[in-house]
Amino acid sequence: MRSKESLSLLACAALATGAVVALPTAASAASARYEAESAPATCDGSVDADHTGYTGTGFCNGRNAVGAAVQFTVSAGQDGTATLAFRFANGAASARPAEVTVNGAAAGIASFESTGTWTGWTTKTLTVPVRSGANTVRLSPTTAAGLPNVDRLDAETTGTTTPPPSATALYVAPNGTDGAAGTLSAPTTLTSAISRVAPGGTIYLRGGTYAYAQTVTVPAGNNGTASTRTRLSAYPGERPVLDFSAMTEAPANRGLVLNGSYWHVHGITVQRAGDNGIYVGGSNNVVERTVTRFNRDTGLQLGRIASTTPREQWPSHNLVLSAESHDNADSDGEDADGFAAKLTVGPGNVFRHTVAHHNIDDGWDLYTKPDTGPIGAVTIEDSLAYGNGTLSDGTVNANGDRNGYKLGGEDIPVDHVVRRSIAHGNGKHGFTYNSNPGSMKVSDNLSVDNAQRNYSWDAGTSVFRGNTSCRSGSGSNDKTVGDADATNQFWSGTNGSRCAAYTGALGWSFATDGRLVVTLGGREVRLGA
Ligand code: GCU
Ligand code: CA
Repeated sequence: MRSKESLSLLACAALATGAVVALPTAASAASARYEAESAPATCDGSVDADHTGYTGTGFCNGRNAVGAAVQFTVSAGQDGTATLAFRFANGAASARPAEVTVNGAAAGIASFESTGTWTGWTTKTLTVPVRSGANTVRLSPTTAAGLPNVDRLDAETTGTTTPPPSATALYVAPNGTDGAAGTLSAPTTLTSAISRVAPGGTIYLRGGTYAYAQTVTVPAGNNGTASTRTRLSAYPGERPVLDFSAMTEAPANRGLVLNGSYWHVHGITVQRAGDNGIYVGGSNNVVERTVTRFNRDTGLQLGRIASTTPREQWPSHNLVLSAESHDNADSDGEDADGFAAKLTVGPGNVFRHTVAHHNIDDGWDLYTKPDTGPIGAVTIEDSLAYGNGTLSDGTVNANGDRNGYKLGGEDIPVDHVVRRSIAHGNGKHGFTYNSNPGSMKVSDNLSVDNAQRNYSWDAGTSVFRGNTSCRSGSGSNDKTVGDADATNQFWSGTNGSRCAAYTGALGWSFATDGRLVVTLGGREVRLGA
């Protein structure tokens, strides 16, 4: 367990860098054990005791079915994070992955590898956000095999280091009203708060679902400052969901549109918009810990504000951080990606620690076309694209491109940087130049089990270093053109020596510091330096 001392040392270190302006709330740590067989835990299956080595009086043997969940109630002394250690045994030959949700919000996938025998108990650890009070933590299996046997959950909760709500912040809640003061006790609406917030101010969104039929826009000119971004943030420990299901599918029906600059959006879920979930037309923004899902075009897209926006004002220097985008699908099945910086974006946009999965088209799309010409170079790093081309419910659309990372379009050279990123089990290529004949820097990536090529380049002068490729679904060899040396291990019919480390089921979660932690076969994958 991390001691109080080490936590306050961490807080001091953060202050010393000048990164944190307000004092963190006092951090304290507490641990508790929750047995799966005892209330308030619930087990969709039977409580058994026939495999020794469990603690308490037994374990949860879930029904072997999708969604047959075990649920725990985890109490936390304050808003913050919890390290969850699930003790389980999986005597089946294959992994039994489960979606982890906390208070209804997705918090990652636990892969629950085979442990060889039903008495081979082991633990799987994940870090998740929690709020003060009772938290519902649910393990919901994603395959018909159901869950492994689940013995217990050990939860270590620590206080948040998020700056506490400030006196000048505006507060928004699902039941807020336009005319309200925007205080904690008299919350306002999001649209009203956006119109009232001062540059560099903060808007806190309380948890819950906000049902909208109309786009919520931060207009151009509503900017933070270079030294202090305007914050649009989930209230610490809470999970606001902007839900646009009332919209019909149409290009004008985006969810949250950020045309301002120097904003920091944090911790918000945007779902079911009639077009993009989040669209960023402004520059120098940070979009962090957002979840964009079930939107009817790309989950999070960057692009110019209007067709009249001059090229030098195309969105640039935006950072997308520790964000997840999944299950976005247009009805044509050919447009909705997880993330897109395409067609009309300027230089310096970065995706870091981001995850795109189960989108109907691609994980990432950096498409260009002759009408609008080249876009600025994009950096994608420490990120993960998996299962794209197939939605979580199994839907596939023949029109979908289904790549992990689609890095260009229509023979227009752009020198993107793609590093320390993973493509796993996508429906077509893992990484593809997609007719970008530029000089991309492609380094320290891992591409495994994609349906066609793990790496697919047919032209250009890209530089490949330290990349690894393992198994291709269709047996397609990788193809690169440019400068690829012996630091790479590409696939040409056999798995190289590195592949032993990259087998087994995929798992991932965001660590407390926002870092994306990916596991394969239960081992953490560390790429690059
Ligand atoms: C066996 C085992 C159970 C387990 C089940 C399963 O029946 O005894 O404990 O839950 O397999 O495959 O889920
Ligand atoms: Ca079972």
